[in-house]
Amino acid sequence: MLFAEHCAGCHDPQGKGNGEQADTLSTTLSTAPTDLLTEPHTARHTVGNFFHWLSHGIPGTGMPGFAATLSEEERWDLVNYLHALSRGFDARLLGSMIVPENPAVASPVFAYSAQDGSGGNLKDFRLQKNVLLVLFSWPQSQQRLNQLKAAYDEIRALNTEILAVPIRSLDEQELLKITDTAPFPVVTEGWSEIKNSYWLYRRVRTVPDLMGKGMFLGHMEFITDRFGYLRARWVAQFEGYGW
Ligand code: HEC
Repeated sequence: MLFAEHCAGCHDPQGKGNGEQADTLSTTLSTAPTDLLTEPHTARHTVGNFFHWLSHGIPGTGMPGFAATLSEEERWDLVNYLHALSRGFDARLLGSMIVPENPAVASPVFAYSAQDGSGGNLKDFRLQKNVLLVLFSWPQSQQRLNQLKAAYDEIRALNTEILAVPIRSLDEQELLKITDTAPFPVVTEGWSEIKNSYWLYRRVRTVPDLMGKGMFLGHMEFITDRFGYLRARWVAQFEGYGW
């Protein structure tokens, strides 16, 4: 990954600004790498600022420019990645209850297609339906999928669609078994991108470290409201069985 390769040495793999070279940098250069994660930099500066710094560096500091080494597209990818990282950090505050009138975090959008022939983009649900995104492991999540199946009519009556997203690739037989259980769309294309971006939203208050113990999660669910905001999250491992 671009960030791991070019930035993590100074900014740390999670963007917290304490990468391996950070100690040497702060003694030799008087400027320590910026904490791109917990400080609201991504909120305070425009994407244009970020792109400029990334291309030309920040004069008088240890922040190098990458115009010569990374393509324009790669630099924009990095800007987007930094934003996702810090939004993901805000997501640690998400709980399993919707806080009324508090849409704080935008859901990462994605394109997908599902086993039942449905597909499109998360954006297609805007102003139409809420979406319950279910990131699941197979067969570990079987019981939960059964629960969702039993509640599916009720959930739909609440103007909500379920999208089930496997967190690893499934073979055809597994998919058949799951489809037996799941009357809702199971994503067959786009799942790994979805997993990778929502993975950044897995921090919880008690374990704010992305690489912390227990942070490899088998099952997470997210509610995106009709306006495209992430409103609630349920992390099976930390919040007990059943939402
Ligand atoms: C050689 C060490 C080093 C490397 C490699 C590096 N940075 Fe930096 N970066 C810094 C330092 C030091 C600063 C703080 C500059 C200052 O004091 O304003 C900084 C600042 C930044 C800022 C400004 C944040 C703000 O809001 O002020 C951004 C954005 C940034 N780096 C992104 C990146 C990205 C993306 C990469 C990889 C392509 C990267 N950096 C690679 C050392 C580095």
